[in-house]
Amino acid sequence: MVAVVGLGYVGLPLAGAFHSAGFQVVGFDTDEEKIEILGRGETYLDHVGVELSRSFIASGRFEGTSDPACFARCDSILLCVPTPLDEESQPDLGYVENSTRVLAEHIEEGTLVVLESTSYPGTTREVVLPILEERGFRLGENLFVAFSPEREDPGRKDLELREIPKLVGGLDEASMDISELLYRAAFSSVHPVESAEIAEAAKILENIYRSVNIALVNEMKVILQRMGIDIWTVIEAASSKPFGFHPFYPGPGLGGHCIPIDPFYLSWKAKQEGIPTRFIELAGEINNNMPGYVLSRIGEALQQHNKRIDGAQVLVLGIAYKPNVNDSRETPAAEILRQLKDKGAQVSYHDPHIPSFPAMRRYSLDLSSVELTAEHLASLDCVVIVTDHEAIDWKLVAEHAPLIIDTRNVITGYHPRGEVWKA
Ligand SMILES: NC(=O)c1ccc[n+]([C@@H]2O[C@H](COP(=O)([O-])OP(=O)(O)OC[C@H]3O[C@@H](n4cnc5c(N)ncnc54)[C@H](O)[C@@H]3O)[C@@H](O)[C@H]2O)c1
Repeated sequence: MVAVVGLGYVGLPLAGAFHSAGFQVVGFDTDEEKIEILGRGETYLDHVGVELSRSFIASGRFEGTSDPACFARCDSILLCVPTPLDEESQPDLGYVENSTRVLAEHIEEGTLVVLESTSYPGTTREVVLPILEERGFRLGENLFVAFSPEREDPGRKDLELREIPKLVGGLDEASMDISELLYRAAFSSVHPVESAEIAEAAKILENIYRSVNIALVNEMKVILQRMGIDIWTVIEAASSKPFGFHPFYPGPGLGGHCIPIDPFYLSWKAKQEGIPTRFIELAGEINNNMPGYVLSRIGEALQQHNKRIDGAQVLVLGIAYKPNVNDSRETPAAEILRQLKDKGAQVSYHDPHIPSFPAMRRYSLDLSSVELTAEHLASLDCVVIVTDHEAIDWKLVAEHAPLIIDTRNVITGYHPRGEVWKA
């Protein structure tokens, strides 16, 4: 029996992968509401849909629970809890520590514990293992521990989770063998590596690679826009090279639980070693400046129409951090809306996946998604495209918005009635 701890964006699809491979699965989450929703055959993740919870009910092989006593019945336990940054932008491993402490009180001898949450190299050995050892377990004898990074890409439709190669690194040889065996039963391809530290570092490298390359194209965008050259057309041209170039796309800033956060886990660890992480800091700085850049483009565009942000009616399209999901964590839309409000704009938003603006640590925006109609679009001074959801009627937007600020290159291909400014 496999337990997945933390049934969020990562844990729920992972529970689904083991379930469809025929396993008995326990889904453990401290959020009882999530357990109740799944128990009713409903969902809290738009992109996952209700099919998964219904298949859980139909098979009778899934048990959702907030009772840690379940861990005593499980052979393998996969930890998918959050790894955020704290107020000082330092790693907050509180969720990993707490969930490990709880399961340590209940597991039987011989259990495999795998950390799937993203963290700095060394976390599994230095943070997870000691908590388990405190309860008297001995690695390689009556306890097995590994790290396997989650590569889930919520909203992606062209690749099932089980088809994404699974990296696995054990804390010792026995843990390696057992964890590889487990994942081979549910994933098409498993890539074992020599240690948990290699698997941890590989995940961090993947995310820093994205952050740095997105920062690079964002910087290029600002330069090329000033020169009157379209960055998206340039990327398309460069992509014709069959080697040595991988396309990344600019945008209004980074969002989500991974790319804006994970690189700083390594920064923190590097600081402990007295080593600076200049690429990470620079990429963070450039990407964090993007909402401000979008604001400056909105200001310029309105000025061309003898208008100012102050008093302008501005609609933001999409507040999720990426298309086709209802995840607004770290979304750049929040900063764009805040800056617009601070400058006196009358702001509203439309997002088919997020009916009301969620509570956020740094933002309190009392807004609900407005209906997207031709009349409303025509009455606005400006529409700002932040998220390119498929469920938004872009033709309607193109045909009725008087001025569009497009940060995602979505209006290309339509016939806009008004001006389009890319940002
Ligand atoms: N979201 C992604 O696209 C993605 C992709 C790859 C890796 N990751 C990594 O996976 C991890 C989880 O991210 P997520 O997006 O699924 O987070 P999430 O917030 O969507 O889900 C975490 C879940 O853990 C639950 N939880 C919190 N504390 C708990 C505890 N003590 N015991 C049991 N459950 C607890 C929460 O209620 C929540 O349901 C993070 O380390 C993240 O960096 C995320």
